[in-house]
Amino acid sequence: MRRASLHGEIDLSAVTFLSPVQEEIKLVEERMRTQADNSHSDLRAALEHLLAAGGKRIRPTVSLLVGNMLGAPLEKLITLGAAVELLHTATLVHDDLIDGSLLRRGMATLNARWSPPATVLTGDFLFARAAIAAAETDHLPLMKLFSETLATIVNGELTQMFTSRGLVSRDNYYKRIYAKTASLFEMTSRAAAMVSPVDETVIESMRDFGYQIGMAFQIVDDILDFNGEQATVGKPLGSDLHNGLVTLPAIYYAEANPNDPDILSLPNGGWTNTENMTRLVDNIRASNSSNQAMREADQHIDRALTILDSFDNCVEREALENLAKYIVDRKV
Ligand code: IPE
Ligand code: IPE
Ligand code: MG
Ligand code: MG
Repeated sequence: MRRASLHGEIDLSAVTFLSPVQEEIKLVEERMRTQADNSHSDLRAALEHLLAAGGKRIRPTVSLLVGNMLGAPLEKLITLGAAVELLHTATLVHDDLIDGSLLRRGMATLNARWSPPATVLTGDFLFARAAIAAAETDHLPLMKLFSETLATIVNGELTQMFTSRGLVSRDNYYKRIYAKTASLFEMTSRAAAMVSPVDETVIESMRDFGYQIGMAFQIVDDILDFNGEQATVGKPLGSDLHNGLVTLPAIYYAEANPNDPDILSLPNGGWTNTENMTRLVDNIRASNSSNQAMREADQHIDRALTILDSFDNCVEREALENLAKYIVDRKV
């Protein structure tokens, strides 16, 4: 299966989890597309640009598969899926501005083409539309959870900004990836269960499922930053460490090589030395650190699969299993 986009095509041939909800994802995208109707023409163009760039749509896929498995009304799942993907898109618009990234999904980012104020405001607009969509589920606890998640993400990004450089702590890393990524997966899966006719135990299981795949998702994203193929990933690689962001492969490397001069130089301004940093990134790439990090992602996926074992076998459960496995196998 290939999904067309303006810059070319994302090869989703390995993506077996999409098939049960392929048509429903189009409805989610339709809902997203209407968000800038009646707004300034530049906002409409920006939204069109963001939608055309594609993206894996993995979060709305989770909401549709979980909700369909548990018997939720389709309309609520489409609305939830659009809310979640709009929120995700808004965080990317701001994240790329903050990181100074010029490439996303193989296309120029908004900040590559627009001024920072226009980019910030477009992100704000998307946050607002995401909140409206969440409200359209007509489910107060869901809206509350949605806003709490947004607060968690923003607080996480801010904490990361003020504490990243020089900090090589596992505990800090896990908290950070929960806040910036796993919290949204957790919310998505939990909210899909909340709008389904199921009890608290099932809602809790699906919350945990979302948490586990979300943690694995960010660990793999951090591995791809070191070991991904630039052309496939469609965003700048090797950039986390240059941006002062210590992720799991770097943590493993620092633990195994405490006397590496480039590691030792970090607290003394090594971050700003491009030669040191380029060598360090190369050494991490060549090391076993990404494999060690991948083992942790695999453990999260094993837990996610165990959670699914307690549900009756059905098309959606099988697709969720494939989605969980895809998270650790993906190249993009
Ligand atoms: C990128 O998310 C941001 C992270 C949380 C790592 P995705 O990898 O899901 O991005 P798209 O939507 O497919 O482009
Ligand atoms: C971003 O994480 C996650 C957000 C919540 C915005 P990253 O900074 O690792 O995402 P990419 O690698 O730019 O997609
Ligand atoms: Mg980024
Ligand atoms: Mg990343």
